[in-house]
Amino acid sequence: MADSKKTQIKNDLAKLESCSDLERSIQLAKQANELCDPTLPFLHSMQYTEGDLDLSFYFSKSYNLKNIHKEEIFSLFKANMYESYKNCPWGWREKKKRSEMFHQNARYILVRQTSSKKVLVAFVHFRFDIEDLTEVLYLYEIQLKQEVRSKGLGRYLMNFLETMAIYYNMKRVVLTVLKNDNKVINFYLSQNYKIESYSPKNSFYYILSKLLIKNV
Ligand SMILES: CC(C)(COP(=O)(O)OP(=O)(O)OC[C@H]1O[C@@H](n2cnc3c(N)ncnc32)[C@H](O)[C@@H]1OP(=O)(O)O)[C@@H](O)C(=O)NCCC(=O)NCCS
Repeated sequence: MADSKKTQIKNDLAKLESCSDLERSIQLAKQANELCDPTLPFLHSMQYTEGDLDLSFYFSKSYNLKNIHKEEIFSLFKANMYESYKNCPWGWREKKKRSEMFHQNARYILVRQTSSKKVLVAFVHFRFDIEDLTEVLYLYEIQLKQEVRSKGLGRYLMNFLETMAIYYNMKRVVLTVLKNDNKVINFYLSQNYKIESYSPKNSFYYILSKLLIKNV
C-alpha cells in the first residue's frame, strides 16, 4: 500500500476514534444531567453546620422549581450581580439571564437555613455538559448572601460539586468569572482553579477550570 494511502487510513481511524470519544463524552454528560437527583449518593453532605451557620441543601431541576423559588433565586442573583453585569459588556439583560438560569438543563442546589424559616441563603446552578469536547461539570453560578460569606460555605460547596463531578466521571469543573472581580478570582485561585488555555485573551472574563483526579 502506498505511504500516502496508509497515512490517509491512519488519519481516518484517528478521526473515527475522536468521534467515538466525543460520542462517549456526550453520553456521559447527558446521563449525569438526566439523573433524577445526582446528589443522592451524597445525602450525608447536604448540610453545612459551622459557627453560627446551620444550613440544609436541596437539589432541584430548574423545571421543578416553583415560581416563588425561581423568584428567590433570581433576587439573590440580582442583589449580588446587578452592578457587575451593568458595568461590563454583557450589560443587565434580565430576560436573557432568566432564560439561561431556568433553562431546562439547569440544575440547582439551594442552601436554606435549617430553622423553620428556611430562608434561602445561597445557591449553585450547575450542569453536566460538554466543554472543549470533554465531559465537565459547568458551574454557572455560585451565589451566597452577604451574611453567610467568608465562613467557608463557598469552599464547601465547591468541594461538594467537585466530589459529585468525580463520582459521575466528569473530567473538569469549568466556570466563567469577570476579570474585574478580584475577590472572586482570588477565591477560585485559592481553590486551585486555573485559567483555561482557550480562555479569551482580550476579554472582560476568564474561563477557569480545575482538572479532576479520581482517587482509586
Ligand atoms: C465568591 C463566594 C462564592 C465565596 O464564598 P465564601 O463562602 O465567601 O468563601 P469561603 O469563606 O469559603 O472562602 C474560601 C477560601 O477562599 C479564600 N478567600 C475567600 N475570599 C477571599 C479573598 N477575598 N481573597 C483571597 N482569598 C479569599 C479564603 O482563603 C478561604 O480559604 P480559608 O477557608 O482557608 O480561609 C461568595 O463570596 C459569593 O457568593 N460572592 C458573591 C457572588 C459571586 O460573586 N459569585 C461568583 C460569581 S462567578
